[in-house]
Amino acid sequence: MTSTSTRDASSWRRGSLPKARFFHPAALQIDVFTLLPHAFSWLTEQRPLAAVLGSELDLRLWNYRDFTPLTGGQVDDEPYGGGAGMILRVDVVDAALEAVYGDFGSRRIIALTPQGRQLDQELVEELAGEEAFTLLSARFEGFDERVVEHLATDAVSIGPYVLSGGELPAMVVLEAVARRLPGAMRAESAMYESFSPSLEGGLEFPQYTRPAEFRGWQVPEVLLSGDHGRIDSWRREQSRERTLS
Ligand SMILES: C[S@@+](CC[C@H](N)C(=O)[O-])C[C@H]1O[C@@H](n2cnc3c(N)ncnc32)[C@H](O)[C@@H]1O
Repeated sequence: MTSTSTRDASSWRRGSLPKARFFHPAALQIDVFTLLPHAFSWLTEQRPLAAVLGSELDLRLWNYRDFTPLTGGQVDDEPYGGGAGMILRVDVVDAALEAVYGDFGSRRIIALTPQGRQLDQELVEELAGEEAFTLLSARFEGFDERVVEHLATDAVSIGPYVLSGGELPAMVVLEAVARRLPGAMRAESAMYESFSPSLEGGLEFPQYTRPAEFRGWQVPEVLLSGDHGRIDSWRREQSRERTLS
């Protein structure tokens, strides 16, 4: 599900919001809007995010409640037509985006919803190639539909199941994209991963480490042979078999 917004050039409204920091000129800038910014702290302390934060990745976490035009920090409301749960209000999301970007812009703004385009490695590569994008997460019963239709440019799902909030989906996108940025991982680690071009988009071959034999379960002899030509052929064959099965 994709909708295109009619927003034009973005500009910063609140001078106090972004702190001046020195990023790589090509740093990817990701903003996450959430009701639980503190939930992201463990992710930012771990590789691969920790390795690229402040250099290849400029990550900012925004709380909808800090921008709500409603009293008492209200962000949600009951659904029109009745039904269970609360809906994240369109005016609240709009106020948050407006405060951060001004009169909206050409920026890619992704609503995280189980009804969106399903995340896969192709979409991850696409996002890693962007200069900047924004993730909108909801809780409760989700977004007022006008957020997805008019404020977001895309809708993305991390899979055909329902979680209680968009924080884990946002973290999934963040981690998957961050590990594609320069310096996030050793180049060799990423080269032969599942879905990588080196494996023609297929699954990775089986991997083993010591001990060579455990409870009678042997590591394939070819991997102990030291014959790198044979090992390479065996791995490619295994990758092909796994991908087709
Ligand atoms: C309980 S869900 C809302 C589900 C919605 N009522 C529906 O039935 O489609 C609350 C929020 O969690 C996030 N979420 C839950 N599952 C998700 C998924 N599979 N992919 C992306 N976001 C998800 C979204 O931000 C969603 O709006």
